[in-house]
Amino acid sequence: MIHYTTFRKAKIRYSDEGKGRALVLVHGFPLNLQVWKEFSAELAKHFRVIAIDLPGFGESENIGYVHSMELMAQCVKEVMDNLGLRRYILVGHSMGGYAGLAFGELFPDNLRGFVMFHSSSYKDSDEKKIDRERSIETIKKKRKSYLKIFTGNMFATPTPLLEGEGRVRSFGVKELKECLKKVQEIANTASARALVAATEGMKNRKDREIILRFAQYPVLFIFGKKDKIFKLENVLPQAETPADKEVLILENAGHMGFYEAKEETLNAIIKFANRCFRMKVE
Ligand code: MLT
Repeated sequence: MIHYTTFRKAKIRYSDEGKGRALVLVHGFPLNLQVWKEFSAELAKHFRVIAIDLPGFGESENIGYVHSMELMAQCVKEVMDNLGLRRYILVGHSMGGYAGLAFGELFPDNLRGFVMFHSSSYKDSDEKKIDRERSIETIKKKRKSYLKIFTGNMFATPTPLLEGEGRVRSFGVKELKECLKKVQEIANTASARALVAATEGMKNRKDREIILRFAQYPVLFIFGKKDKIFKLENVLPQAETPADKEVLILENAGHMGFYEAKEETLNAIIKFANRCFRMKVE
């Protein structure tokens, strides 16, 4: 079910389905809650699942000209507070993971677990910041072509099927085409203002490795071996830091594991969430 609330006078859209312990899904850039549709329907067979459109994305309105990760975290908190939910697991995809880390800094007591889904606790390098500046200029001039290239990079390039692999590989060229189309349609709904505000927010975000290091809740990391946005060797070291962690490395996925390796990532999150919810809270 789709619902609306307000946060800092802006309309915010979220979905709420299923019953029981709660999971909140926070999408990445340049997407919105629609991207979780099939995935959240599966999770909702086990849990209550809330997915939120971050400010500026989907049907949520812009709040200012820079959407910081802290602002996004506060928006998530507002939605969850309005629902009367106090402790939950946050699943953050990429930029949603950055927002999740800001959430972990501001509201650690509300987390029972945290899933870093193709995300990073490291701040942008100087080089990446320059890249973000270039992206902002391109978004302002050629939003649609920027989005086309960006979304194309989110998926791994499928390798030809090896003999006998047809039966086991569930995400091939056909699935890639379908998913890419869907993801591009979702991305195309984002305005230039929202894309710029989020890009500024990501560029200015703090390094938050320390949040993982001192996390009082379990953390599940999901990485794609073929992720073109985060090179595995660059993001893997962060997974060493939390006291209670799980790591899933997807052999054939890029940056979109919930499409490219749906069953594997679903199973990992369900198992992880059940473990987190069984743990005693002090
Ligand atoms: C995302 O998928 O949310 C973005 O690729 C994250 C980023 O650009 O750093």
